[in-house]
Amino acid sequence: MSSQTLAYDDNGSGPALVLLHAFPFDRRFWDGVTPSLVAAGFRVIAPDLLGFGKSICETKWSIDDQADAVSELMDSIRIPNAAVLGLSMGGYVALSLAANHPKQVASLVLADTKAAPDSPEARQGRDLAIDLVSRQGVTAFCDGMLPKLLAPNTSESIRKATRDLMNQPPSTILTALTALRDRADRRPSLATIGVPTLVLGGEFDTISTPKESAELAAAISNARFVQLQNVGHLSNLESPAAFLKELFSFLNN
Ligand code: MLT
Repeated sequence: MSSQTLAYDDNGSGPALVLLHAFPFDRRFWDGVTPSLVAAGFRVIAPDLLGFGKSICETKWSIDDQADAVSELMDSIRIPNAAVLGLSMGGYVALSLAANHPKQVASLVLADTKAAPDSPEARQGRDLAIDLVSRQGVTAFCDGMLPKLLAPNTSESIRKATRDLMNQPPSTILTALTALRDRADRRPSLATIGVPTLVLGGEFDTISTPKESAELAAAISNARFVQLQNVGHLSNLESPAAFLKELFSFLNN
């Protein structure tokens, strides 16, 4: 890849925890949970993935490119390994990091994500989304995506706060939709993951279903699956207290 710069937050001191955001968000995705993690004694590193937020990437990227960039960031700030938490797209990046840079992953939290690639129907959905963004723009795409991200009874204030975070450049959305559509099947590499792993899934998640989360946990030897009640696809935004409770119970053990 040519010109790229990863913007990131680096707060606190203690064991390193790398937070990888979902699509179509950026590192502000973690603002609601970071203060509690820092107060609990963690060093929290939250990058804007390539092309998102204030990160710059002048070329097209893949999920593996995102993992390579996170690996380089960890090297550059001298973190030999960390607990890596990825939510949805961030989880795809975390799984790529675990497969391609395993020494940098001390433990894994895979939230609202899956190892399987897009099904033919999902790939078709990405193509339709690419068409929608190209014809009608990012606003129409994000407005259409929002209801799929949240549980049916999520409050209006969380709905609005979530929508406010979904504002990325059209070129980033288009590249991301292609990268998500074409991402690798990570199921064959799950058996090689030996680090402690927490799989978090939302009761009403229709993008990464509870069944897919349970299958992900079952395929990793040292994994535990916890289903969070009353949340959809974005558990950190919909139920930060429950999300943090499970995270602390995992990280502190
Ligand atoms: C995400 O939340 O990161 C996306 O919904 C992931 C996806 O569409 O596969």
